Amino acid sequence: MPQKSKIGSKADSMNLPKGPDTPWFVQYYAWLYKPLEFLDECSARYGDIFTIQIAKGGRHRPMIMISDPTLVQQLLTADFKNFESGEGHHSMKDYVGENSLLVSDGALHRKHRTIIKPQFYGDHLKVYGERMREICNQEMSAFRHGGSFSVREFMQELSMKIIVDTVVGARDSEETQELQRCFPRFMNWLTSLSGHIFTNAPAAQISLGPLSPWGYYLKETKAIDQLLYKLMAQAKQSKEGDRYDVLTMLVNTRDQEGETLSDKEIRDEILTLLISGHETVAAAMSWAMYYIHENPEVKAKLIAEIESLGENTDPMSIFKLPYLTAVCDETLRLRPSLIVAFTRMPKEKFSLGNFEFEPRTNLMPCIYLTHQRPSIFKSPREFQPERFLGQQYSPYEYYPFGGSNRRCIGAAYAMYEMKIVLANILRNWKIARKDLITVKARRRGITITPPDAFKLEVFGRR
Ligand code: HEM
Repeated sequence: MPQKSKIGSKADSMNLPKGPDTPWFVQYYAWLYKPLEFLDECSARYGDIFTIQIAKGGRHRPMIMISDPTLVQQLLTADFKNFESGEGHHSMKDYVGENSLLVSDGALHRKHRTIIKPQFYGDHLKVYGERMREICNQEMSAFRHGGSFSVREFMQELSMKIIVDTVVGARDSEETQELQRCFPRFMNWLTSLSGHIFTNAPAAQISLGPLSPWGYYLKETKAIDQLLYKLMAQAKQSKEGDRYDVLTMLVNTRDQEGETLSDKEIRDEILTLLISGHETVAAAMSWAMYYIHENPEVKAKLIAEIESLGENTDPMSIFKLPYLTAVCDETLRLRPSLIVAFTRMPKEKFSLGNFEFEPRTNLMPCIYLTHQRPSIFKSPREFQPERFLGQQYSPYEYYPFGGSNRRCIGAAYAMYEMKIVLANILRNWKIARKDLITVKARRRGITITPPDAFKLEVFGRR
C-alpha cells in the first residue's frame, strides 16, 4: 500500500461519499488494469463507503462502493422490489438480449429465476457432477510427464466445455461442437479492451465489415444465435427422458401459472448462462491452483483428504470434503471472481449510513473489500483455509456469490465444479509450480484472474 496516495478526494455536490477527484478516464484505467490496488487505495483513504467514477455521460453514473458488512446488510435486506439491478448492465443487452436475468428486473426477472434456478440445484447436480469428472478426464488426457500448462487457459477451456455440456447438452451434435469453437472466440473479444470499449460506447457501434471490431462482433453474435436456435429445435424434438441439459428442460418447463418461455427468452437465458457460468468458475479454479501450490502444507493436507476417499469417485462424497470446501471458500474470499456484486439502484430516495441517496444511484456491495477486512478475517492477505473450519461468517461478511434476489443462481453448481475438478486433478497428477513469475491479479472482462503466464508443471501420475 503506497504511503502517499496519488488520488485526491472530492465531496460530491450531490452529497455522495468522498472518492478520488482524478478524471474519470484515469479511474477507468485503474479499474481496468489495477483493480485491486485501486480499491485498496480508495478504501485506505476513504473508508467503508466511497465513490468512484469510471465512465461519464449517457447512462453512466458514479459507483458507490460499500464494504462495511452493516451497510451491506442494510442494502441487501431492504425490500428488493424497491431496487433495480438490470439497468446497471445495459451495455450487455445487445448480446444477452432484453430477457436475460442479467439485465431484467421486476416480474420478468422473478419469473425467469423461478424457472432457471432449480436447474442448478438438488438432483440435477449429481448428473452434472459425473459429466464434469468425465470432461475433466478428457482434458487431462493431454497432460504429459515434464509438460507444463497455463493454468488459466486450461481452466477456461475446461469450464467452457463443462458449461456447454450442462446447458445445451447434445454433445455429439455438430452445432454443439461448433459452439465450442466459436464461443471462446466471442468471449475473448468480449473480455478484451476492444470489447469493453465497443459494448459500452454506442457511438462506436458502427460496422465497417467483418474485420472491423463492431462488424466482427455482429458476425460472431449472429453465428452463435444461429447455433442456439438450431440446438433449441433439436431439444424440442428430443423424447422426454432422453436428454438432461438445461436447454431441454427449458423448452419443456412451465412455471406455476403454466407459462413457458418463448424461443427468444430461452435464447437470451442460454447465452446468459454460457457467459456467466464459465469465466467466473475458471477464475476461481485458477486461483485455487495458485494458492494450493504456493502453500505446501495446504497442498499436503488437501491431497491426504482427497486420497482418504480411496477409489470412491462419487461427486457428492467429493463435494462434502471439509478441507476441500475450506480451500474453495478461502480462494473465493481472497480472490472473489467478481470483486463487486451487481448494482442496487433505489427507485426512491434511500438512506444508508450517513447518506441519503437519490433514486437511481449505483449502490454496489464491494465483495473484495469486505473480504479484506481484518476485523472479520485476521491477516486477510494470507491464504488460510483453516479460518473456514468450524467458523461461520454472516452472508454480509462473506458473500462471493452476492445476495438477496440477485444471488448467483449457479453458486452450488460452481462450488460443485470447483471441488470435482480440483480433486480430480490433484488425485491423478503430480504437479508443481513451473515459473518464478510474480502472480498479480489481472482483469479479464468482469472477472479477476491470474495471468496466462502462470504455469504448472506435470511431473508424473499419482
Ligand atoms: C465461482 C463462480 C461464480 C461466482 C464467484 C459468481 C458470482 C456471482 C455474483 C457475485 C453475482 C451477483 C450477485 C448479486 O449481485 O447479488 C452472480 C450472479 C449471477 N450468476 Fe454467478 N458466479 C459464479 C458462477 C456462476 C455459474 C456457474 C452460473 C451459471 C450456471 C452463474 C450464473 C449467474 C447468473 C445468471 C447471475 C445473475 C442472477 C440474477 O441477476 O438474478 N454464476 N454471480
